[in-house]
Amino acid sequence: MKSIVIKCGGSVMEDLGDSFFESLSELKEEGYQLVFVHGGGPAINKMLELYQVPHEFVNGLRKTTPEVMEVAEMVLSGQSNRKLAAMLQKQGLKALGLNGSDAGLFLGEVVDQEKLGLVGKISGVNRPLLEKLLSEELIPVITPIASTEDGTKLNVNADYAAAAVANAIDSEHCIFVTDVEGIFIDGKLSSHLDKKEIEQHIKDEKITGGMIPKVTSAMKAISQGINSVMIVSGKDAFYKNGTWIGTNVSAKKEVFN
Ligand SMILES: Nc1ncnc2c1ncn2[C@@H]1O[C@H](COP(=O)(O)OP(=O)(O)OP(=O)(O)O)[C@@H](O)[C@H]1O
Ligand SMILES: [Mg+2]
Repeated sequence: MKSIVIKCGGSVMEDLGDSFFESLSELKEEGYQLVFVHGGGPAINKMLELYQVPHEFVNGLRKTTPEVMEVAEMVLSGQSNRKLAAMLQKQGLKALGLNGSDAGLFLGEVVDQEKLGLVGKISGVNRPLLEKLLSEELIPVITPIASTEDGTKLNVNADYAAAAVANAIDSEHCIFVTDVEGIFIDGKLSSHLDKKEIEQHIKDEKITGGMIPKVTSAMKAISQGINSVMIVSGKDAFYKNGTWIGTNVSAKKEVFN
């Protein structure tokens, strides 16, 4: 079974174009099974503002008070997940919406209670459940919410959640679909960046905000055995005629003599 985990950014959910779905079809035709993990950033912000819940970001991660958690879950499970599952269904794909906190799908641990509140990292993924769904030709669409051993719900950055899924089921690729074509450095799109370059760009503040959890989880996924990680746009084709379009992240650039 070869699979691809696709993290769909909340930033681009409303703008997924026909060419995005054509790329998905091409991957399906090549025999890949698809698993989706999605974010919901802008929709969560909108709802927090509507409910006048104060909120802030620390290094691209949303500080999560219990009030923020309640709103985040409402939006992720009730809106973003439903929207993405429906869009995939419309394309003839058998999408099945799932909450990461259900059935031990995502087991989580608090990252830094004082600094980030209920932000979690994933300590376990229910691999047998995912494999069962994939064997039934279903396409899991998962919210980035984890549950601790004692049932506390944690807000996990969807980029980290996607990387954890990719590692848990030994996917060949992990794709981060976002609202930009890839990583831009000094205004220019980079087709390929390695760990060392990424670390330097973060230091120089050329990679900031929401791109930080993306590259950090990309590097983690690679260190744990994923072949290729791409950061791509959901507004255009990201895979066409066997070629990826976006920024490829790797451990170390290959040197050709
Ligand atoms: N060097 C960079 N190149 C490209 N984008 C960058 C860079 N540094 C920071 N960014 C920002 O990262 C953003 C993408 O991350 P963001 O968290 O906003 O979206 P997302 O992860 O797709 O959505 P969500 O968080 O809702 O799942 C871009 O829109 C851009 O503003
Ligand atoms: Mg993000």
